[in-house]
Amino acid sequence: MKIIHDITEMQQFCADVRQRGKKIGFVPTMGALHEGHLKLVDEARRCCDLVVVSIFVNPTQFGPQEDFEKYPRNLDADAEKLAPRGADVIFNPSASDMYPKNCVTTIHVVSITEGLCGAHRPGHFDGVAQVVTKLFNIIGPCTAVFGRKDYQQLQVIKRLTTDLNLPVKIVGMPTVREPDGLAMSSRNAYLSPDERPRALAIARALTDAHALFSNSAELATIENHIQKALIHSFDTIDYITLADADSLAPFPADSDYPSRALIAVAARIGGTRLIDNTVLGEDAPPIQR
Ligand code: PAF
Repeated sequence: MKIIHDITEMQQFCADVRQRGKKIGFVPTMGALHEGHLKLVDEARRCCDLVVVSIFVNPTQFGPQEDFEKYPRNLDADAEKLAPRGADVIFNPSASDMYPKNCVTTIHVVSITEGLCGAHRPGHFDGVAQVVTKLFNIIGPCTAVFGRKDYQQLQVIKRLTTDLNLPVKIVGMPTVREPDGLAMSSRNAYLSPDERPRALAIARALTDAHALFSNSAELATIENHIQKALIHSFDTIDYITLADADSLAPFPADSDYPSRALIAVAARIGGTRLIDNTVLGEDAPPIQR
């Protein structure tokens, strides 16, 4: 497995691979890899000839008060996890190469970025759109694989790719969970032993939401149930949103009962912000009871 830091070298390497008629599968990450990331690598490996994984903690998607500085970074440990899964190349550029001082171009996806995390992390999706577009241009993948745990991010990237005619297929893979149901996340490492069991309230509440949805409970009742279930375990709830799973828009009051609906949650325990979601009527419940 090669590790490439230089942008021009990466661009040249990928151009040569494409020249030889090989398909590049790409998994963008910020490192601190867990099984959720490795499942994305498995999918890229399955559908493409060469797998590139980027490891880059992107400064432009973090707000000033967020965890950019403390975000876990361990390239050697990540490389050890990637090699046995068949990744061919790690792309690990520096922030100063990705964003030279004269870089002033941003990308703003409207509408689907306005609610959920977009409302609580101003500028976050501009940073994601910017870095993902740059990475696509450097690597030129045929397929890029993202996790559905970052559901809004996945929709933003699908929109961006369609709107800008980027020649890459976007694949979304199911959220990978710990045996007890907690969605895997690099940020779970911030949870203290006391906080870790409290974090499970989200997966439990989303599982309850599936049962309520199957019984055609009012959408407001489902949201209220989740609110009540989280209030004791979490210090702050950023949002609990039930929305159309494609547009991410709330359902109008007079709409028919939906056949599928996204329920997405962001909540904080101490300094740790966790997100999770499930599509009612489509996904399996997070916890099998
Ligand atoms: O999901 C992430 O880890 C990041 O948002 C991404 C897509 C790698 C862009 O920095």
